[in-house]
Amino acid sequence: MRIDIITAVPELLKSPFEASILKRAIEKKIVAVHFHNIRDYSTNSYRQIDDYQFGGGAGMVMMIEPIDKCISKLKSQRNYDEIIYVTPDGNNFNQRIANKISLMKNIIILCGHYKGVDQRVRDQFITMEISIGDYVLSGGELASAIICDSVIRLIPGVLGNETSALTDSHQDGLLAPSVYTRPAEYKGWKVPEILLSGHLKKIEEWRENDALKRTASRRPDLLE
Ligand code: ADE
Repeated sequence: MRIDIITAVPELLKSPFEASILKRAIEKKIVAVHFHNIRDYSTNSYRQIDDYQFGGGAGMVMMIEPIDKCISKLKSQRNYDEIIYVTPDGNNFNQRIANKISLMKNIIILCGHYKGVDQRVRDQFITMEISIGDYVLSGGELASAIICDSVIRLIPGVLGNETSALTDSHQDGLLAPSVYTRPAEYKGWKVPEILLSGHLKKIEEWRENDALKRTASRRPDLLE
């Protein structure tokens, strides 16, 4: 998978890809992430990328021309499955959307800033708009890092044990069950007996039941 991220602040975005699971996925060449500084596509010597909004009002708007130049250059080089704009007024991100994106070959992610981008960018170039929640960040960079993290860990070969992504919370519409590790007893606090029994079928049943109970108490909306 190839991810092209268009941003005004690449420094805000790079470190999540330089450690741990994402770093390894890049080293293993399972995924390639390219950053494009939108200022490099500015048409004036101030490297300007935003301007006042027509009609007046507070807040700057990202101009269409630098974004058009960057997206058009990328599109001339390969086909993209989706051109995603991260924005607080997009569709709410969830595991279903992460799964869908993880199957794609090439995507562009455009990070917004200030009051957002000129609406014509959204009308002409964007194929998918995603919000990571009902709150506003200073820019789309952290949101796109979150989207990339959740997507990349789903690609086969990224996690050591592939089943571990399949048993995550939300992957089957439920929260994940409780987990325990050694010691089996600590200060008198015991691990549920069944998990030590070696009886795989019963353990599986216990986990299903625990996941259901946990979902019902914490996130009943998921069961509706
Ligand atoms: N940019 C600013 N806030 C955002 C959010 N909640 N989701 C996605 N992009 C954003």
